[in-house]
Amino acid sequence: MSNKKYKILVTGGMGYIGSHTTVALIAQGYEVVIVDNLSNSHAFILDRIEKISGIRPTYYNMDVCDAGQIEKLFAENNDIAGVIHFAAYKAVGESVAEPLKYYHNNIGGLVTLLQAMQNHKIKNIVFSSSCSVYGNATQLPVDENCPLQPAESPYGNTKRICEEILVDTTKTGTANVIALRYFNPIGAHESGLIGELPIGQPSNLIPVITQTAAGLRDMITVFGNDYDTPDGTCIRDYIHVVDLADAHVAAVARLIENKQLQPYELYNLGTGEGVSVKQAIDTFEEAIGVKANHQCGSRRDGDVVQIWADCTKANSELGWKTKISLSDAMKSAWKWQQNLVNSGQ
Ligand code: NAD
Ligand code: WQD
Repeated sequence: MSNKKYKILVTGGMGYIGSHTTVALIAQGYEVVIVDNLSNSHAFILDRIEKISGIRPTYYNMDVCDAGQIEKLFAENNDIAGVIHFAAYKAVGESVAEPLKYYHNNIGGLVTLLQAMQNHKIKNIVFSSSCSVYGNATQLPVDENCPLQPAESPYGNTKRICEEILVDTTKTGTANVIALRYFNPIGAHESGLIGELPIGQPSNLIPVITQTAAGLRDMITVFGNDYDTPDGTCIRDYIHVVDLADAHVAAVARLIENKQLQPYELYNLGTGEGVSVKQAIDTFEEAIGVKANHQCGSRRDGDVVQIWADCTKANSELGWKTKISLSDAMKSAWKWQQNLVNSGQ
């Protein structure tokens, strides 16, 4: 099937997951319109997307919280078949220090977007949620029916509230929603041209590993080695960003093709495998053949002990599964890190 006729609005399309999803959508024949205010990304990513895809998506430098601007965008693009909404702030620690900034952007942005979509009778939306809604999960692996825990941070709470807003909106019959709960996205496009490039110092494990191996940091501090896990370190489910991007293509296709079983659907997106911090460092060192110096430090506030996904629902209903190994994910993250160093980023 050719998807050429379908136009998809990707909010936050210049960001980490959004840029990879844009590339995946274009590869499947979709036309992509990006809206991004570059609050956590860079204008040159558009050139990189074009270099990979051979097509330059239409780009609007706009704030999704600005109702007037978003209204104008929809008026200019009255043939949008679906929206993938990535635009949000995502720094957990910053959200604790500046909760209103997060509530304003993440919730305000979603509400503004949904209102504009309603005004223009556009129903299909894929939403970026997070495994953070499960907190310290009561069952492992975690499936979508696992009870949610009170959020550890305002950031996590925005995801939970946004999911509730979307549930309520679908009840009015004005929206068809697929919410995707990502586990830990890692890695970069095989070209090395796009990857995670947050503004400021990264604090997620994989960028910390690659920066340490590249000599930009002295040491990785492993946040706690006395947890009740096989090697004492925390366990997560690390999913390659290209696999994650493919799930968005599957989700938006499901909406456009009216294959939903319910107007609000929810899917976990992970690999289904739990990996400890020590295992992640070991896998990196084995895959790359470069040391990533590390030492054990104290536990980090707010860390859940262990979580990994049951992705049976996404596998069967979205017809999607991950393809990229942790070792290959590390190789792609390393290639991206080396390109950053070489280009002085
Ligand atoms: P990112 O920061 O790289 O991308 C988000 C993009 O949205 C950025 O380009 C930023 O400039 C843009 N943006 C933010 N606020 C905006 C606004 N008001 N108007 C227009 N553009 C705006 O983040 P990411 O890692 O690609 O995450 C994408 C989405 O996935 C976010 O909603 C995030 O909360 C969610 N998520 C991310 C992770 C993760 O670990 N990366 C995990 C779970 C969920
Ligand atoms: C992974 C593991 C750390 C850095 C965060 C958000 C979550 C979601 C994904 C958006 C943990 C350990 C890390 C370091 C370490 N994002 N670690 N030393 O905390 O699982 O999830 O990103 O929705 O909401 O909270 O990811 O990469 O920070 O940590 O030991 O220097 O690595 O303790 O066990 P996390 P992370």
